[in-house]
Amino acid sequence: MRRRLPLLLAAVGAACAALAASAGSARWWFAAGPLLALTALGVRDLVQRRDSLLRAYPLTGRLPFVPFVPRHGRDERPGAVREFLVSSLAPVEPAEEPPVVRVGGPDCRLPYDMALLNVSALSFGALSAPAVLALNRGAALGRFAQDTGEGGLSEHHLRGGGDLVWEIGTGYFGCRTGDGRLDAREFADKAALPEVRCVSLKLSQGAAPGGGALLPGVKVSASVALERNVPAGEPVVSPPGHREYSTPRELVLFLARLRELAGGKPTGLKLCVGSRREFLAVCRAMVAEGVAPDFVVVDGSEGGSGAAPPYAGEVGLPLTEGLMTVHNALVGVGLRDRVRIGASGGVATGADVVRRLAQGADYTNAPAR
Ligand SMILES: Cc1cc2nc3c(=O)[nH]c(=O)nc-3n(C[C@H](O)[C@H](O)[C@H](O)COP(=O)(O)O)c2cc1C
Repeated sequence: MRRRLPLLLAAVGAACAALAASAGSARWWFAAGPLLALTALGVRDLVQRRDSLLRAYPLTGRLPFVPFVPRHGRDERPGAVREFLVSSLAPVEPAEEPPVVRVGGPDCRLPYDMALLNVSALSFGALSAPAVLALNRGAALGRFAQDTGEGGLSEHHLRGGGDLVWEIGTGYFGCRTGDGRLDAREFADKAALPEVRCVSLKLSQGAAPGGGALLPGVKVSASVALERNVPAGEPVVSPPGHREYSTPRELVLFLARLRELAGGKPTGLKLCVGSRREFLAVCRAMVAEGVAPDFVVVDGSEGGSGAAPPYAGEVGLPLTEGLMTVHNALVGVGLRDRVRIGASGGVATGADVVRRLAQGADYTNAPAR
């Protein structure tokens, strides 16, 4: 209902102004006219079927910086570097099969061929069961992977036949002990499912770098609660940080442990880069421990969220900078050839995919658009 409040207000305002105009002063038509136009626009947003975002957020979905709404488009701030692609006078033939990139370094025993565009992490809870299932069916049809998001591996992720990247966040939802730590046995059991092709350890995301997340109690239905191993009807907090490690070395060792528990499936990280120094410290830890993730998904600060805090978009590196930081750091420590890089944040068109590949990514992720 809250999503449609602006439309409701416009409609009520238009009706009141029209009543006032017909009952008394004709000057009220100056207010009624624009309000009626807004109402008509909102109704059009609501009934159209082309853009699900606009349908969910009539009127406000048109604004570029609304919390709870994924944001799209280029950075138009003054001084922003304009990015563009160059064409070639030596075009090549299109590939017969859609290209894929092999994910899995030397410590991985079950490498996975990842499509160049996949469904980014969208948790069950932030998304409804039919939405999760629809994305999973789409992944099966299109031969790409669906990231489960941090809300657990639900039955809806397993019904459509699509490949899954199972994301583990700071709340370890779906494989958590009563005191909020990793339940290794439950993790191993679920990671062994054939649909789970990769495991992703989420450190942070673009819309909430370092801030964790909150799923309001009204969204915690019995089935969401069951999948997350939390009480129904109560707000669910994803803590800002992990409890299973506290230093870069412990992080990479935890990653190696997850990969072993997952039977050697590709295991990687997802983060929005904040301080470059921190990511460099993680790279040093990879070298020191001789452990590397199979992939790193870089989220840009421009990325959307199901629960954006007010500072969303203001903290963390935008995707271009984050991507180049991760690519260059991995090249610098000599690990780039065994770590694949995924990019998510504002990927909406084929040109976006090509741009991100040119900037250092091997593949991209996007929410359903
Ligand atoms: C409804 C919704 C739920 C999300 N849930 C998660 C999540 O559970 N885990 C995660 O890592 N990112 C989550 N994200 C972030 C996306 O995976 C992705 O990184 C972000 O949307 C990319 O930015 P874009 O929306 O500009 O493409 C979510 C985003 C949305 C819109």
